[in-house]
Amino acid sequence: MSYPIVILGSGKGSNADALLQAQAKKQLGRAHVAAIISDQADAGILELGQKHTVPAIYVDPLQSKARLSRDVERSFIERVASFSPRLIVLAGFMRIIGPTFIQAFKGRVINLHPSLLPSFPGIDSIQQAFDFGVTVTGCTVHWVTAELDAGPIIRQKPVEIEPQDTLALLRTKVHIAEHSLLPKVIAEMSQGKISLPTGL
Ligand code: GAR
Repeated sequence: MSYPIVILGSGKGSNADALLQAQAKKQLGRAHVAAIISDQADAGILELGQKHTVPAIYVDPLQSKARLSRDVERSFIERVASFSPRLIVLAGFMRIIGPTFIQAFKGRVINLHPSLLPSFPGIDSIQQAFDFGVTVTGCTVHWVTAELDAGPIIRQKPVEIEPQDTLALLRTKVHIAEHSLLPKVIAEMSQGKISLPTGL
């Protein structure tokens, strides 16, 4: 059975690219990227649409600030739903998604976060870990719930911070970990190897 996924992102799109590359190499299980949707008209992630021949759509966030406004959330729901996704992947989507969206796609929304949650939630998580001086950080894929960065954890990948590491190097290390973790998790989900936790 096919397993369409929709990716939501606001930035460069290196993780969306990793998913599309995994798909090209048949390493994404039954999953395939049905669409990429962004709240940033000039985001690099939208350029992947042409490169990989996949619909890449900008949805205007209008007056939304950190959190999507109710109306904009409805526009996102409509766009996403039109691709009938089995899974919605937040890969660098930098606005907070509200309960209406989460309810519309109950148990089908996951997020990639650049730290070992519950440590360093929110923004600038790589910098937070670096500044705090931890010796291990990493990345997390988790289910999205109404509470920011607090949904049940699906998988994590640790990254060691060596004494000589700069912040730039640490960013690279975390991104490399993300590019390997996210496709694996989605492949497993598409093969029914990861089940929804009770209560979600
Ligand atoms: C990734 O590091 C992702 O974990 C992070 O944004 C980056 C997107 O990079 N997400 C968050 O910080 C969410 N709180 P990309 O656009 O190159 O995939």
